[in-house]
Amino acid sequence: MQNSKWNRGVAVVGVGLSKFGAFPDKNSRDLFVEAYLDLIGTFKEFDPKRIEAFYLGNFSSDQFEKQAHLAPILSSWVGLSPIPAVRVEDACASSGVALRQAALSIASGEYDVVLVGGVEKMTDLEIAAVTEALATAADMQFEVTAGFTFPGFYAAMATAYMSEYNAQREAFYHVSIKNHNNGALNEKAQFGQTIKSIMESKIERAAQKGRPVPEWQDEIDFLSDPKGNPLIAWPMTLFDCSPVSDGAAVALLVSEEIADQFTDTPIYFIGSGQASDGALPERETLSRIPAATQAAARAYQMAGLSPQDIDLAEVHDCFTIAEIIATEDLGFFERGQGWQAAIQGKTARNGEQPVNTSGGLKSKGHPVGATGIGQLVEIWKQLNGLAGDRQAFGDLRIGLTHNVGGTGQTCVVNIFERRA
Ligand code: COA
Repeated sequence: MQNSKWNRGVAVVGVGLSKFGAFPDKNSRDLFVEAYLDLIGTFKEFDPKRIEAFYLGNFSSDQFEKQAHLAPILSSWVGLSPIPAVRVEDACASSGVALRQAALSIASGEYDVVLVGGVEKMTDLEIAAVTEALATAADMQFEVTAGFTFPGFYAAMATAYMSEYNAQREAFYHVSIKNHNNGALNEKAQFGQTIKSIMESKIERAAQKGRPVPEWQDEIDFLSDPKGNPLIAWPMTLFDCSPVSDGAAVALLVSEEIADQFTDTPIYFIGSGQASDGALPERETLSRIPAATQAAARAYQMAGLSPQDIDLAEVHDCFTIAEIIATEDLGFFERGQGWQAAIQGKTARNGEQPVNTSGGLKSKGHPVGATGIGQLVEIWKQLNGLAGDRQAFGDLRIGLTHNVGGTGQTCVVNIFERRA
């Protein structure tokens, strides 16, 4: 930490993740317990009594499950009462922000051992009600009254981006294909299938049912056909959207000097930045997210690093356009170059700048309150060489997470280092 006011360093000593997907028989408590047990299982021995505080990212259990005040409820459910339990709400960035707050609480000297998590149970509601609930994360006065919901907001950003940089729509398909390729190798992902295999099973199903058999030549052909990939909000199609998901993620943070009491494979917080912004009509252009650039600048400054030093990143691809914009906001590619980089495979798992090796929100799933910690789980696994078949090549030392709330009213960027 080169340029930091943090009083001491913070390490991540363990992570846990539930399966992401749609689970009619599970609520937030079940999902959280699944992630918590996954975390506990990573330690040889672990005494939960060492946990001094709990931070929980959750967007809206109030709307999705009619249960607010979730932090003390989950804390008590896993036996952690009476430690302080804090719910953090910053829309889809809730747990990325909770992670930063948990780290700050250790850096300040208040606590040595903090549990941080994120959870969302979205699939109990019908899709129209989910869309309405998600829309409350946008500015109700200046964005929602214009008639938009989230696919529409990001469609407007995509349209602005295409017009500003003469970008081709095919770039979005490449993001989707890449992220499904990665997600197919992630046992926790909602969509454990490549787009090629989804396409092939649709062809097979049509043949079995005696319907006209589609003649898709490849994934791009499939994604370009509204019969395979229907339009949601032009130019965003079904396969440009992250799904509606249930899931939970947790991590254990400790002060740097005691990390070796917990694990031989800690990763260290070396940079963190957060920024905020107003509604879309206040922005100069819709083709970028200024809060992301500002959060990243602070995180890079704190870490004493530049975008070229980042070995891999998990970015907030709630829609495919969001990943392309993120790779520019984070400085991986020049403005207007992100779409070509996607087509050229530069962000592939073994490309020059791997992005979303987990499958991203697109394929792993996007239980909104769990997403920020879910990103950390992937960075932890990749930096420690534990990502199995989807392990990226090379000596990975520095990983970054980028978590966005709303249409970019909140962005938090965290940077982690493996030292062993
Ligand atoms: N990508 C790919 N396939 C998807 C999908 C997605 N995002 N969402 C659903 N599907 C598939 C389902 O698996 C199902 O496939 P099948 O017919 O082969 O079984 C089919 O599409 C229909 O699923 P269904 O659940 O009925 O879709 P839906 O119409 O209710 O929802 C969206 C589709 C795109 C509207 C929904 O996923 C959505 O709203 N996504 C955006 C969520 C969002 O805004 N998050 C916040 C971001 S900031």
